[in-house]
Amino acid sequence: MTRVSDHERADDDADAGTESDADRDRVPVLLVRGDREYLVEPGDEMGTDLGVLEVPEDVHSGDTLETHLGDEFQVRRLRGPDLFHHFERTGAPMVPRDIGLVLGETGIAGGDRVLDAGTGTGVLAALMARAGAEVVTYEQDPEFADVARENMALGGVEDAVDVRTGDVLEDVDALEPSSFDVLTLDTADAPAMVEHAPDLLVDGGFVAVYSPFIESTREVAETAREVGLANITTRETIQREMQFDERGSRPSTAPVGHTGYLTIARNE
Ligand SMILES: C[S@@+](CC[C@H](N)C(=O)[O-])C[C@H]1O[C@@H](n2cnc3c(N)ncnc32)[C@H](O)[C@@H]1O
Repeated sequence: MTRVSDHERADDDADAGTESDADRDRVPVLLVRGDREYLVEPGDEMGTDLGVLEVPEDVHSGDTLETHLGDEFQVRRLRGPDLFHHFERTGAPMVPRDIGLVLGETGIAGGDRVLDAGTGTGVLAALMARAGAEVVTYEQDPEFADVARENMALGGVEDAVDVRTGDVLEDVDALEPSSFDVLTLDTADAPAMVEHAPDLLVDGGFVAVYSPFIESTREVAETAREVGLANITTRETIQREMQFDERGSRPSTAPVGHTGYLTIARNE
């Protein structure tokens, strides 16, 4: 699929000068035609090999737009999984299916307060916010944190996600005890944060740790046990894509889809 990300937008608005209220209210949309997908803003002019397309200021999801050569694009609003493809990438984002596991296993919902580290690209933080949570997320790399704030705006969750620049471990003593419903960790030093989970979580709250390697996963599970967390489970988040063709149906022969290990534990 051909995709143009936010920073590769056809009409570069970086030179646009002072941002007006109207600019700030502009909601990016997707233009889709077959396997092509472009992220654009109202008022953009997009040049493609199919011709030039002017995006009206009042563009809406469901509209059909034509290039000057008459080729049609459908307009769609960004939904959660689109953020994975169109956020500017910094720290390796979690894939939507693994985020689904975090949401399902912890029950994150409207009104929940989540502490997340590290922000990285911010896909997990944004999708938790879109599920209704209020998210405090820490990113130690200042440039990554700046990008994450822009990504939150693109995802429409800038008011629900507080991106804090810094090492979460250095701030942990300043965080209010028993003030988070869920703690989500996607960092190499997650075991050190798991030690603080009983203090930070409400009774019955969850910690969810995503680790690409088995060594740190084991350390997370052992730390969770040592600090008295309950219901500790670790699962590999593996899925096989199915292929259906004229010869038959079978799992895809593409490389096996290991993405990581997810450890869930609960504060009692
Ligand atoms: C794998 S990425 C997280 C991706 C994120 N879950 C997502 O879905 O986009 C890990 C990020 O954590 C940050 N990080 C690592 N240790 C940290 C710490 N102790 N405090 C804050 N950020 C940290 C790294 O700089 C990196 O950007």
